[in-house]
Amino acid sequence: MFRCPVCHSPLQKEDTRFVCENRHSFDRAGRSRGGYVNLLLANKKSSSDPGDNALMISGRTTFLSAGYYQPLSDALCESVLSLPQSLRVLDAGCGEGYYAQHLLEAAAQRGIPLDFYGIDLSKYGVKAAAKRCQKIPLPVQSSFGVGSIFDLPFADESLDVVYNVFSPIGEQEFSRVLRPGGHFVAAYPGARHLFGLKEILYEHPYENEEKNHELQGFSIQSRQRIAYRRRLDGQAVIQGLFMMTPYYYKTSVAGAERLKKLESLETEIDFWLIEYQKA
Ligand SMILES: C[S@@+](CC[C@H](N)C(=O)[O-])C[C@H]1O[C@@H](n2cnc3c(N)ncnc32)[C@H](O)[C@@H]1O
Ligand SMILES: [Zn+2]
Repeated sequence: MFRCPVCHSPLQKEDTRFVCENRHSFDRAGRSRGGYVNLLLANKKSSSDPGDNALMISGRTTFLSAGYYQPLSDALCESVLSLPQSLRVLDAGCGEGYYAQHLLEAAAQRGIPLDFYGIDLSKYGVKAAAKRCQKIPLPVQSSFGVGSIFDLPFADESLDVVYNVFSPIGEQEFSRVLRPGGHFVAAYPGARHLFGLKEILYEHPYENEEKNHELQGFSIQSRQRIAYRRRLDGQAVIQGLFMMTPYYYKTSVAGAERLKKLESLETEIDFWLIEYQKA
């Protein structure tokens, strides 16, 4: 369960709010807004509107919903659902909830009673994620909150699995909230990820630098490479993808203009999916 960001006591979920024994109370947004809670205290915010903005979140939904990253989502689902006792699961940096929805639907279909949490710094992301997942039936249940990966609203050793797709890695916090022997699953870009996109944006594109993926406090259990090519059709998905990448901030006007003229884009997609166990 979530813990209170003020006093760290457990938060009880009620119809309209989360509340702790010291009466710190956090409203749940109404059902039409997807039912999420803001657990980010104003004095912990780095800006008034942190994380991905509304345009980036809707671009991400356009791109992801078209299925180009489904092989990653399938592999992530299999990984999380095959871990022993993976009942209490956190998506750390859930964005607009694409991976959360797939995992929850797969668990519901298999009758696995997941107690699922998604957190992100972006209220637009969390709102969209909660909406994506609100109709998934029991035995899974999900709660979404605005919160930070570097100050997670969970008690020590209270989760079985944390996973993270392309969001900041807070290994100290992940280790704190995982039970002994709990698992962390992370997706990272591989060397050739989105090379076709970079060939349009840059005169001299270079491959992503691949790290060794070691994390303090964790041992690596398995590494899986998921690599394939796709043709992206239409400006909506091309721009949706562009906005998801760090290149969105680093591209020249000329590069962005070249991309705007394309009706389709062929690119390599290249991920590493790494399973860790808390040491
Ligand atoms: C590249 S996106 C990945 C989102 C999602 N996992 C996906 O793949 O669609 C990175 C996400 O991390 C979020 N983020 C950035 N800093 C964060 C922090 N300190 N705590 C929680 N989320 C954060 C952003 O708002 C954004 O949604
Ligand atoms: Zn409290």
